[in-house]
Amino acid sequence: MSDLSPPPHRASAAVATIRGFHPAFGVSLAKSGKQNKVLPIYVLNGPTLNLLGTREPEIYGTATLAEIGRLTAARAKGHGLTVVFRQSNHEGELVDWIQEARAKGCGVILNAAAYTHTSLAIHDALKALDKPIIEVHLSNPHAREPFRHRSFVSKVATGVICGLKEQGYLAAVDAMAVLIKRQP
Ligand code: DQA
Repeated sequence: MSDLSPPPHRASAAVATIRGFHPAFGVSLAKSGKQNKVLPIYVLNGPTLNLLGTREPEIYGTATLAEIGRLTAARAKGHGLTVVFRQSNHEGELVDWIQEARAKGCGVILNAAAYTHTSLAIHDALKALDKPIIEVHLSNPHAREPFRHRSFVSKVATGVICGLKEQGYLAAVDAMAVLIKRQP
């Protein structure tokens, strides 16, 4: 696994603590003593996204994944939220992180990369999540080869953002902030 962020992106360290009632995110607060903790958004990235910046920049843009991680964390901060930002080339590791988000996250933003089009395991893990899920792609898979048109993630995602390169991650954070607020 590669954890692309500085220490605050790790799940345990990424839990932002605020004092008192936070009306905007009241529903996602887990009470702990006198303090309320806002669980982080899990931003998970699949295979070969570690090569962003040099990998087919005409399709995926020139931003590296580390840069996208920094932009994403900054955007979340603007909403009073934090992120756990991770990348793996391994399907099972992504499944483990989705399961981890059940207890430790407020929602998942997922670019499953090629696993989007193949992984029933990721589909099932997401189905068991019971939290908002936003599927993100840098490119627009629907405008590409036919084998990219099918998504196992879309079937269980709350929403899908694609074709906006790294801006899609920021739009996903904005949308997640709204979805978290709406949770019962
Ligand atoms: C991708 C699109 C997928 O089809 C591809 O396999 C990727 C990246 C995207 O972000 O555009 O690796 O998820």
